[in-house]
Amino acid sequence: MDNLKEAIKQLKKEKNAVILGHYYQRGEIQDIADFVGDSLALAQWAAKTDADIIVMCGVHFMGETAKVLCPDKKVLVPDMAAGCSLADSCPADEFAEFVKAHPGYTVISYVNTTAAVKAVTDVVVTSTNARQIVESFPQDEKIIFGPDRNLGGYINAVTGRNMLLWNGACHVHEQFSVEKIVELKKEHPGAVVLAHPECKGALLKLADVVGSTAVLLKYAVAHPEKEYIVATEAGILHEMRKQCPDTTFIPAPPADSTCACNECSYMRLNTLEKLYDCLKNETPEITVDPEVAEKAVRPIKRMLELSK
Ligand code: 13P
Ligand code: SF4
Repeated sequence: MDNLKEAIKQLKKEKNAVILGHYYQRGEIQDIADFVGDSLALAQWAAKTDADIIVMCGVHFMGETAKVLCPDKKVLVPDMAAGCSLADSCPADEFAEFVKAHPGYTVISYVNTTAAVKAVTDVVVTSTNARQIVESFPQDEKIIFGPDRNLGGYINAVTGRNMLLWNGACHVHEQFSVEKIVELKKEHPGAVVLAHPECKGALLKLADVVGSTAVLLKYAVAHPEKEYIVATEAGILHEMRKQCPDTTFIPAPPADSTCACNECSYMRLNTLEKLYDCLKNETPEITVDPEVAEKAVRPIKRMLELSK
């Protein structure tokens, strides 16, 4: 393991590569990454790096976003099969039809989408900036929001909007159950419930803090004296425990206690071995059709501008 880590560091230096990791990655990958963050921070980091190679330790759409922002760089992902059920719930051709059927609507898409969906989008958002960006439009703006019905429903509820929602969801966040959290709260009455807005509306209603991975982490770091129940992918606990070693973090249990469904199977596909191979062989490489990339880059850059 130590040899592998050393070999990765060596290759990274030789090739002027940067390793970006999402909070849902395996702990050992987060530990070796040059930068660990939420999906907004990963896009911001990709946009400003001067490395020749970006290794995106996350899922496919994160690699695509980096490639669209940096078309002249080589963008690698350790395992090309690292997809996203939420992105899969929004096929580009069906979404384009939906947009066409609603002329006069502004199209806001969550970053968890393919580049082809972003290509028919006016502005991209992440869970960190979704509320702020939606609120930058007039209250009566006609908006299509896709693909996450839970995040969209949450933004509608907190902003009093009536955005038209695409009916998509993430299989990890949808499985958390209100009943299990209520049971946990009985055992830990003082615990603060942190939830990602991809969870179902009923769960978000009982959460104390709703936010992206970065927002939930920031809250916990600012209040280390509390105890937490964390309703998002369990990988975030690695950084939470690292930054708050004396705080108790309880992962929200999966609805079915026989599975590890609070882990994203796609995110877990990336391993140190695959990271080493990918740096060594410079493959698998993310490619995006240049015509699609030309259209997709505008709403991504618009998001980066609005998030400054
Ligand atoms: P964040 O933007 O909060 O990191 O979320 C990414 C993601 O895939 C959530 O499931
Ligand atoms: Fe996609 Fe859900 Fe995995 Fe996030 S946790 S990458 S939304 S499948």
